[in-house]
Amino acid sequence: MARQAVLLIGSPRWLRSTSYSLGAYLIEKLEHFDCETIHIHKAISDPKMTQDMVRSVNAADLIILSSPLYVDALPAPVLRVFELIASGQREKPDRPQQFVAILNCGFPETKHNNTAMRICRLFAERAGFMWAGGLAMGMGPAIDGRPLAKAGRVGKNARDALSLAADALSKGQSVPEEAIKRMAEPPIPIRLYTMIGNRTWKKMASQYGMADKLKARPFATAE
Ligand SMILES: Cc1cc2nc3c(=O)[nH]c(=O)nc-3n(C[C@H](O)[C@H](O)[C@H](O)COP(=O)(O)O)c2cc1C
Repeated sequence: MARQAVLLIGSPRWLRSTSYSLGAYLIEKLEHFDCETIHIHKAISDPKMTQDMVRSVNAADLIILSSPLYVDALPAPVLRVFELIASGQREKPDRPQQFVAILNCGFPETKHNNTAMRICRLFAERAGFMWAGGLAMGMGPAIDGRPLAKAGRVGKNARDALSLAADALSKGQSVPEEAIKRMAEPPIPIRLYTMIGNRTWKKMASQYGMADKLKARPFATAE
């Protein structure tokens, strides 16, 4: 019988998000799982959908959270879902439930995700899930919500890492260290990413006639 997997997307950008690109690639590669994908921001806005989401999570064999990093932590709706699941009397199935987190952030270095990943792990352990590993990457905007298979060179490390992870999870194992390491490797040089990022910010500012205001500090107090 197929096992149940739930993919929780923690980005408000939903199908246009890097969180979705990464999570969707992982579930596509899973074998012997029926997968349900839930948009946390949408589900949390309606009591019936919230209840259904919690029910799906409580019944799943594998729960995958794919989320962006917001202010060195997780988006508030993701934390709300953690609270809802952890605070209720969970009806747990009498088999292990694995919990995996995929995090992506805007800065080039993966380490910015460390605190949020620890939050995910603590949640999993306290809510009675089996922590099956966390995959984190920087440079999330380089993927920019494109299907990972079409993200070329910038998606290569994530594709390799998620394929390794899917293989292990399909066998009921945890995410291997090699996958975690591969996911964390910058797919392009940090200097190149920063250069492209700066150019993109300047272009966006120009569209609003703000090209010369990028360093403005309107709330700075007089020195
Ligand atoms: C409100 C907000 C806060 C953010 N905070 C951080 C942060 O603290 N560190 C970081 O590296 N990136 C931060 N980012 C950038 C996102 O993590 C990054 O753009 C990510 O790729 C978005 O993923 P998504 O497409 O799945 O939403 C922030 C973005 C937003 C909108």
